[in-house]
Amino acid sequence: MSRPKWFFLSLALSLSLLTLSRSVAARQFVLVLSQEDFKDDPGAEPDSSAEWDELGDGDAHKSEEDLDPGSWRPIFEPPSGEPQPLSEPDAAYYSAVDKLMSGNPALIEDGAAEIAAAAETGHPAAQSVLGFLWEMGLLRERSKGKAFLYHHFAAEGGNMQSKMALAYKYTRQDMFDKAVNLYAELAEVAVNNFLISKDSPVIEPVRLHNGAEENKEALRKSKGEEDEDFQILEYQAQKGNAVAMYKVGLFYYFGLRGLRRDHSKALSWFLKAVEKGEPRSMELLGEIYARGAGVERNYTKAFEWLTLASRHQLYSAYNGMGYLYVKGYGVDQKNYTKAKEYFEKAAENDEVGGHYNLGVMYLKGIGVKRDVKLACKFFVVAANNGQPKAFYQLAKIFHNGVGFKKNIHLATALYKLVAERGPWSSLSRWALESYLKGDLGKAFMLYSRMAEMGYEVAQSNAAWILDKYGERSMCMGESGFCTDAERHQRAHSLWWQASEQGNEHAALLIGDAYYYGRGTARDYERAAEAYMHAKSQSNAQAMFNLGYMHEHGQGLPFDLHLAKRYYDEALDHDRAAKLPVTLALSSLWVRKNYADSFMVHVIDSLPELYPKLEAWVENVLMEEGNATILTLFACLITVLYLRERQRRQAGVAAGEVAQPNLPNELGVPAR
Ligand SMILES: *[C@@H]1O[C@H](CO)[C@@H](O)[C@H](O)[C@H]1NC(C)=O
Ligand SMILES: *[C@@H]1O[C@H](CO)[C@@H](O)[C@H](O)[C@H]1NC(C)=O
Ligand SMILES: *[C@@H]1O[C@H](CO)[C@@H](O)[C@H](O)[C@H]1NC(C)=O
Repeated sequence: MSRPKWFFLSLALSLSLLTLSRSVAARQFVLVLSQEDFKDDPGAEPDSSAEWDELGDGDAHKSEEDLDPGSWRPIFEPPSGEPQPLSEPDAAYYSAVDKLMSGNPALIEDGAAEIAAAAETGHPAAQSVLGFLWEMGLLRERSKGKAFLYHHFAAEGGNMQSKMALAYKYTRQDMFDKAVNLYAELAEVAVNNFLISKDSPVIEPVRLHNGAEENKEALRKSKGEEDEDFQILEYQAQKGNAVAMYKVGLFYYFGLRGLRRDHSKALSWFLKAVEKGEPRSMELLGEIYARGAGVERNYTKAFEWLTLASRHQLYSAYNGMGYLYVKGYGVDQKNYTKAKEYFEKAAENDEVGGHYNLGVMYLKGIGVKRDVKLACKFFVVAANNGQPKAFYQLAKIFHNGVGFKKNIHLATALYKLVAERGPWSSLSRWALESYLKGDLGKAFMLYSRMAEMGYEVAQSNAAWILDKYGERSMCMGESGFCTDAERHQRAHSLWWQASEQGNEHAALLIGDAYYYGRGTARDYERAAEAYMHAKSQSNAQAMFNLGYMHEHGQGLPFDLHLAKRYYDEALDHDRAAKLPVTLALSSLWVRKNYADSFMVHVIDSLPELYPKLEAWVENVLMEEGNATILTLFACLITVLYLRERQRRQAGVAAGEVAQPNLPNELGVPAR
């Protein structure tokens, strides 16, 4: 873990605010239900169970292409073997998208024109991409209205990515009634794609950056077959290590660690592993046969493999067996008693899936008396152990107000978590792959697409690529490549969205953007607002910056006491803040004790003075003859110097352009 570079940043004292660099941990989602949430009269609500599907396998037969029509998979993951013939409109659509991804301005222009033409014929996927182009302002003047319109058409035509984009847009505008229905639909598709017996491994988008720096560790782990660790693992598997065989199979099955998903490779590794009695591979084989992933679906075989796995004390396999008994697949007949026994066995052995399944039984009254409260208790246990399926059920409960008071806001947030794991999340795999190959243009386009769909990680990745790589990001603006102003404005808008979604690093950057007038007009009030937002997430740098703003009466009332409070608070939250806080407190001390003195003017005029600083130290400071203050200023100057050098190297200063505010970006963060 790299520590934030407080030292460089501590110049904040005299020149600027602290500028960043903390890792952004995903916020833990912990659900606690209180008596308040329960309905007083749970018996009174109509029984809506009929409209709920059971353990959910409605879409299990569908391929990802069917679930996510217009997916860019054929471009980024072309199927091996004979390419399937496409209909004429689809062929035109894919050829246009291919051009958009080419990174070649002339081709991109052609692609954009072809997409527009295809959209006019009513091709939903083309309409969706056209909405994306309007949203980005790619070779056209940015228009949120037109973006909305085309996403609306596309969503009506069944395009899931446009539904994601719309749901996110509605959420941002606090139109939860609309957002919740879209997210519900999307989450259902996502859930049906999950494993039955256990939780699918987490396939979250990888964050490219850690604060301002590249996230080397995460990227190293995503290099697929080129990663050394993977090669060692594969070597061990080839040498006959059963656990390694299972792991390699798993990586291929889900496309983890930057590997291309490959069901047949996965199957062959699992089959080798089970020969050696490796139980987790038996369970996965059960999944594979139950799903028909890369093999002919055969529930009998699925049940056999799950049973074998369960005999090896692999308790999650009981969930799969229970599921088959609920459905009556691969077994003599449905037997709810038996299913419940299996789920209980799994739950007793700390398999959270068991809690989830028991929750479903009680919720729907399958083989037991219906009991919504008990069901919720099971779901909460599962949800707090990170089971996305349980998030989904709880979202439904809050959405429909079954047993609980309706809470559309919470339902939306829960659905969104689940919906983001739908098949469309493959975009992040391709984006990362492109990034690792050095194809920044493609990576940027893919992250931008996901950003529009509301993925926070993608928003900050896209913004970070813009900031870090500048022109190399191949960002396309209104006419040709982005101007500096366009790039800054776009990065600002992306950071803003990420910060709305709780990314404290982004909130800091937004504060900085307003403070310096980078990509937006300078606005101290808004800067303070953004820092407040980051502070509410315990960000020490934001606290520091707020202290600084109070000290200088910028954007916040001039208040030295409050300033000190913020500085102290920053120190409480992060010991690494010691140096800058010490410097800041010293400056505060000077300000309090020598108000309006020469020294205060010096501190305030440091930025302008910088070139003359060295002379000033010799002539003025030395004469003052106070060792403490002298040390303090020596420190400051070093920092100032290093910082200035760093700034010049980064060429940040060059990009500080003033830009009119965009009305839509200025809303106070929603949550
Ligand atoms: C499914 O598997 C069972 C047991 O392995 C086998 O007897 C049966 O023929 C298979 N069914 C089909 C349709 O292949
Ligand atoms: C269902 O399972 C239970 C418990 O395993 C068993 O006692 C019962 O006979 C089974 N019912 C049927 C109809 O097979
Ligand atoms: C020098 O400054 C320190 C604080 O920075 C103060 O405590 C001390 O009294 C000063 N000494 C003189 C000689 O002014």
